[in-house]
Amino acid sequence: MAASLRAALKYQARLPVASRTGFGSLRGMASKPQTLKERFAELIPKEIENVKAIRAEHGKKAFGPVTVDQVYGGMRGLPALLWDGSVLDAEEGIRFRGHTIPDIQKALPKAPGGQEPLPEGLFWLLLTGEIPTEEQVRGLSAEWAARASLPSFVEELIDRCPSTLHPMSQFSLAVTALNHDSAFAKAYSEGISKKDYWGPTFEDSMDLIAKLPAIAGRIYRNVYGDGKLPAIDLNKDYSANLSTLLGFGDNEAFVELMRLYITIHSDHEGGNVSAHTGKLVGSALSDPFLSFAASLNGLAGPLHGLANQEVLVWLMKMKKQLGENPSDDAVREYIWGTLNSGQVIPGYGHAVLRKTDPRYTAQREFAQKHLPTDPFFKMVGQIYDIAPKVLLEAGKAKNPWPNVDAHSGVLLTYYGLSQMQFYTVLFGVSRAFGVAAQLCWDRALGAPLERPKSYSSAAIKKMFEGKP
Ligand SMILES: CC(C)(COP(=O)(O)OP(=O)(O)OC[C@H]1O[C@@H](n2cnc3c(N)ncnc32)[C@H](O)[C@@H]1OP(=O)(O)O)[C@@H](O)C(=O)NCCC(=O)NCCS
Repeated sequence: MAASLRAALKYQARLPVASRTGFGSLRGMASKPQTLKERFAELIPKEIENVKAIRAEHGKKAFGPVTVDQVYGGMRGLPALLWDGSVLDAEEGIRFRGHTIPDIQKALPKAPGGQEPLPEGLFWLLLTGEIPTEEQVRGLSAEWAARASLPSFVEELIDRCPSTLHPMSQFSLAVTALNHDSAFAKAYSEGISKKDYWGPTFEDSMDLIAKLPAIAGRIYRNVYGDGKLPAIDLNKDYSANLSTLLGFGDNEAFVELMRLYITIHSDHEGGNVSAHTGKLVGSALSDPFLSFAASLNGLAGPLHGLANQEVLVWLMKMKKQLGENPSDDAVREYIWGTLNSGQVIPGYGHAVLRKTDPRYTAQREFAQKHLPTDPFFKMVGQIYDIAPKVLLEAGKAKNPWPNVDAHSGVLLTYYGLSQMQFYTVLFGVSRAFGVAAQLCWDRALGAPLERPKSYSSAAIKKMFEGKP
């Protein structure tokens, strides 16, 4: 703890003043490689002008009518949010700042000897819209490692949780508690000017992301192990440190899986429950820790991030019921059984997507490369051949295809991370990247308090009375 704090301070001391405080001058630094904060600072004035121009030209134009069904139907498709990091196309899937998953797998820097993109690069891309250099990504790995340690009271808080408390509840609790040291909350209480909000928001966002592996590792070791944790290695990348904290750092394939996993789970535009919740809570100027803790509570729902746990529970039940190599007919019957008992097929369907999720495909390709003969992986493939047909025949789900959660648990189980209640915590570590990047931009652009209008059923009825 003391050593890592010393190293963190040493690293901080090496950072340019502007990078440490958010308020310093950016002049006179041409010789040093540009940090993420410096690049972000450069982009802000241009983006403020860009938004001004868009609003001046198009501000009074309508996206289209809002229907009563959308009000009752969970606001599906309602264009109501600004989110720059990624855009989701119903047919094609996610694009991060215009790049598809295969694009970023090629373009983002890798670890030495690695093949999967480093999530550090993805965060740079989400925040700036630019593919970073190797040097910039290595700098970010070092900065996150230097910021990774937890305040001791947060460690104690996690240690005091009963092992029966769901890992997501422990996760949310610990992230909320990080608000104790929020740079934004402190600066706000001291009267920071609105135009400077982005600086401490950036600092908190970096701390938030940096500290999540230590929280996740501590929860995992407390609930499933002996509670002892190795130290963060200041020379390792984010995913390598996360893997080590979980106890899988010696397995390079697992570390590679973490790099891919964190990259593809990071962001899925702004309307999903975790992303929107973070943005909404942030709009009240709650700091990034409070905002992201709220995101985590949404991610913990079974229709959202908890689906990766649900998929494994469902698969295990199926394996227990049907054995290792079930026939297609038996699998079909099992799927119908789930539907007929009024439950959803976890890992299938999506509120926006109408095709197989490319995040599913990326994980499938990883499995084909690393665990092609794994029986569980084969079972996932068999379900992929059968479940969409059953869902189509049942005729309710608008999208019968698998989503990201249909695959992740099988990969984790293969490497020995079989505690399915923990899976959503890993999703949460990753989702911080997308939420944090947008929180930085929201504060930089002076995003207002969110306050959509709600209506009662009585008001809706009255509004349309006597109208065709
Ligand atoms: C993701 C999900 C919540 C999207 O919900 P949605 O936008 O309301 O989906 P749809 O418009 O297609 O829903 C229409 C109907 O089909 C049902 N449906 C959708 N996906 C289904 C699935 N995988 N299994 C069974 N029924 C499903 C819905 O429950 C709904 O039924 P209802 O009319 O009785 O309420 C939904 O597909 C689901 O519950 N999937 C399983 C959970 C999951 O994998 N979540 C992770 C998402 S990344």
